[in-house]
Amino acid sequence: MTYRVTILPRNITLTVEAHETILEAAHRQGFNFPYGCDAGSCYVCAGSLESGTLKIKTNNEQVHAGDGDDSNTDDVLFCLAQPLTDCSIFIEGVLAPGEHPMINASCQVTNITPMGNDTIEVELRLPAGKKIDFHPGQYLQVILDEETECAFSIGSIPNKERTLQLYVGFSDKDERSRRLRAAFTTGNVVTISLPHGNCYLKNLESTAPLFLVAGSTGISQIKSIAEQCIREQNDTTAAQRQIFIYWGTRTTSELFLNDFFLNMTKSNNNIHYTPVVAEPDATWKGRTGFVHKAMLDDHDISDDAEIVLCGSPGMAYAVLDDFLATGIKEQQVQSDVFDYAPRNN
Ligand code: FES
Repeated sequence: MTYRVTILPRNITLTVEAHETILEAAHRQGFNFPYGCDAGSCYVCAGSLESGTLKIKTNNEQVHAGDGDDSNTDDVLFCLAQPLTDCSIFIEGVLAPGEHPMINASCQVTNITPMGNDTIEVELRLPAGKKIDFHPGQYLQVILDEETECAFSIGSIPNKERTLQLYVGFSDKDERSRRLRAAFTTGNVVTISLPHGNCYLKNLESTAPLFLVAGSTGISQIKSIAEQCIREQNDTTAAQRQIFIYWGTRTTSELFLNDFFLNMTKSNNNIHYTPVVAEPDATWKGRTGFVHKAMLDDHDISDDAEIVLCGSPGMAYAVLDDFLATGIKEQQVQSDVFDYAPRNN
């Protein structure tokens, strides 16, 4: 018998066998889970039970969430707790296997490059001497003040120069945008937190087809993931996988990384790039319409294909619905949107 334990606030899922404590299951599966004594003395592993029922193995006491006795559920020691049902628990500091710890860092703005259409490329340099890592596809938050944070996909991969690239679109009608434009000035220092997000490639050895679909500045996340795939296949014996990049924008002038991706396809014959413009000007000779429809027109999507979707919540859910209608399975599609803007909210 196994139980599913959801660990909040990160919303990480752990599978626990009936005879195991939550801490034992976490360690068996490679999670980083806070603990000290593993014997009920130090309280390092303490957290709360939010739903479900647990048993405390030393005295067989049952702890039920929602039975009105908060003292019982607020201070559960997970080194002693065995689930009796599926549960959700709350404990800070848990990392799933392969996850990097989240940190705050002060970074220098080392370069700003205008990309046209009120979009800039921002280069930030991370501080030396601090271990900071992320998975390509993850995002960071720029902290403007205690109440204002702005999320940006990281458009680069980890590198020894400790630099990060962001692609930032501005609207001067928006106060937050004006503040960001002022913060992103060469030489300034900005505070960021990273890494965030769970939308990255979990199996870098997969040879299944990979579809990277972006709307507008969502291309930043796609750039990072595609660069990671190229680095893997160049630096290791990782097999090449076929990678199909589809980028949809409203106008032709918004394709600010068009040349970058065209060059990427020239030097990597497993990378295929298709820009799709919704409202093209008379000079555009490429694809038009909806980006995901172009992808569906071009390919029969196999059951093992992996799809990463980057864009606004409206775009991501509309595309997901169209994908599901063609027989693509939900678990083939990942997007940050599914975590930060769940559809039932
Ligand atoms: S690890 Fe020490 S009380 Fe649980």
